[in-house]
Amino acid sequence: MAFVAGWPVKHSRSPLIHRHWLKTFGIEGDYRLEPVKPADFPAFVADLKSGASIYAGGNVTIPHKEAASALADRCDTVAEELGAANTLWREDGRLCATNTDVHGFAANLDERHPGWDKVSRAVVLGAGGASRAVIRAFRDRGISEINVVNRTLSRAAELADRFGPTIHAHSMAALPEVIQGAGLFVNTTSLGMDGQDVPEIDFSTMSIGALVTDIVYVPLQTPILKQAEAQGLATVDGLGMLLHQAVPGFERWFGIRPQVDETLRSLVIADM
Ligand code: ATR
Repeated sequence: MAFVAGWPVKHSRSPLIHRHWLKTFGIEGDYRLEPVKPADFPAFVADLKSGASIYAGGNVTIPHKEAASALADRCDTVAEELGAANTLWREDGRLCATNTDVHGFAANLDERHPGWDKVSRAVVLGAGGASRAVIRAFRDRGISEINVVNRTLSRAAELADRFGPTIHAHSMAALPEVIQGAGLFVNTTSLGMDGQDVPEIDFSTMSIGALVTDIVYVPLQTPILKQAEAQGLATVDGLGMLLHQAVPGFERWFGIRPQVDETLRSLVIADM
């Protein structure tokens, strides 16, 4: 039995994903929505720690990711560095935490655009929690120059301090210059979500064969991806990140590593 705890949590697509895999493997178990208010989260975690809970583990989402990493008995290096966890499980009587967004981001691109990491310069738009996961994935793959562009320059500068000398912080005004010659562009902001307006971006100055991706997946073809595609660039949508980030959690709780396939993708698209 596993859960996704958040506040609000009712729009989460995680139950659809995990129940699909439970059914596929014929596992008798469930994956449930747990609406947990911030004030109630420490008690929820205490139950998990003590083993009194019905759950083997679960996911946490907004606004509990930071609290989850702080309250767990043990964070892996990813959750530790990001200061945020989205997956919890019990092991040897201890509550462990990781952040599977890093894996989800990289696995989506590995599947949809193999060789995506063979670039020397990348641009990340945004400097929030999602941006940290993307930066960690880039660093794991050895991308040597990571440019973080953000509306609030100080947040980008904080990331540069945190992640070290391969990270360069820029304000939005610098975007046209920063994007020139880059091989990879990722939007980690909510720009374009639910039909919001987005600024015009000239992707044509990126390097030949450059890739543009977005972690927003509603709508699937975000305004940023549409612009890039219209300018002849390769694009990958963000839905696969959601699907792939669910894989390590399912494996921890239920003991089988599931596949991300077209059936699952279609199931989630039909629900959007
Ligand atoms: P998440 O954890 O999903 O990354 P977050 O920590 O709230 O969420 O970060 C949101 C990111 O989107 C930030 O980089 C934010 O920019 P600021 O740091 O300046 O707030 C960015 N963002 C949100 N709305 C934006 C907008 N309308 N224009 C530009 N950037 C925006």
